[in-house]
Amino acid sequence: MTIPVDSSPTTIPYPRECTFSKNDWRILANMWYPLALESDIADAPKKMKLLDVDLVIARLGDGYVIAKDVCIHRGAPLSKGWVKDDCLVCPYHGYRYDSEGQCVLVPSHPEWKIPSKLKLQTVRHEIKYGLVWVCLSGDPINQLPDWTPEEEDANYRRFTLGPETWDCSAGRTIENFIDNAHFSFVHQSSFGQEESATMGAEYEFTQDEYTMTMEFDYKATNPDDSPIADVSQLDRHMHRTLFLPFSTRTAISYPEGKEHIIHFNIAPVSARKAQLIAVFHRNFDHHVPEEDLLAWEKKIIYEDKAIIELQKPEEIPLDVAQEVHSKADKASLAFRRWLVNLGLEGEMSA
Ligand code: FES
Ligand SMILES: [Fe+2]
Repeated sequence: MTIPVDSSPTTIPYPRECTFSKNDWRILANMWYPLALESDIADAPKKMKLLDVDLVIARLGDGYVIAKDVCIHRGAPLSKGWVKDDCLVCPYHGYRYDSEGQCVLVPSHPEWKIPSKLKLQTVRHEIKYGLVWVCLSGDPINQLPDWTPEEEDANYRRFTLGPETWDCSAGRTIENFIDNAHFSFVHQSSFGQEESATMGAEYEFTQDEYTMTMEFDYKATNPDDSPIADVSQLDRHMHRTLFLPFSTRTAISYPEGKEHIIHFNIAPVSARKAQLIAVFHRNFDHHVPEEDLLAWEKKIIYEDKAIIELQKPEEIPLDVAQEVHSKADKASLAFRRWLVNLGLEGEMSA
């Protein structure tokens, strides 16, 4: 369910010491990104970073304030402040801001008619599937992902990983999650098997304005340390959707209607840092403790991380002639073309 929030967004300006070109930043600012898990947002203000912009996020009563982490009075960081009476309090002179970012109290002059321009630079946000999604420009050109039916179906158990920040670009990270030819090599110690190398390379591919989809079969292995070491689960059908630009939903189907769904949600912290929030849903193996399932997912996902953090150049080259592409790279090539068509330019991107 999507809960629209009227956060009276303002346009966040291009940040100082930005790791993106001005052109690329302005384009990337026009998108929804997954910033945080709603359950992690508490009364204590939290500092976060997106596209090199320092943000503060705090729960204020039933709502949230998400804003540039700068007090409009003298520029102190609001993330060092606190929450009182459903307001965010600046740690410098105690000015109080409500969930719209409007200053509602100046303690040194409590009778002062506060000017309307004493208002934080707030960020447009929505809560969907327990994640806080934000768009810095307030005018998103992409769409939030669709996680049906698993979010509404009580048969699916949900657990999460992150947010955690990886030392790699968002582009390299999401390309890994739409790359099906690496399973047999990167994941040899977990589910990949070399004999299946051609299976991940042959897939049905479609795309529309907001998504790309891939569909294929893959024969996996399940080593003894897997909490799902069931022979019947070796043959998997995979249906993957990329919600442009940086979120994927991968549904892995096994015989007898068993389904395991993985959502990877990436936010570009800076040009070479990506924040990951992974959400998992399973409609089977309910007897396996969640911590065992999570440990297994971490083992697999950190196999990906170990490779992505070493790729050069760190950002994906937008000149597609700079790297070589095989048939298996159809999805990543389409993804790069989508970025180029948006107007991103030069050697580097997110
Ligand atoms: S700098 Fe925030 S109240 Fe003065
Ligand atoms: Fe992988």
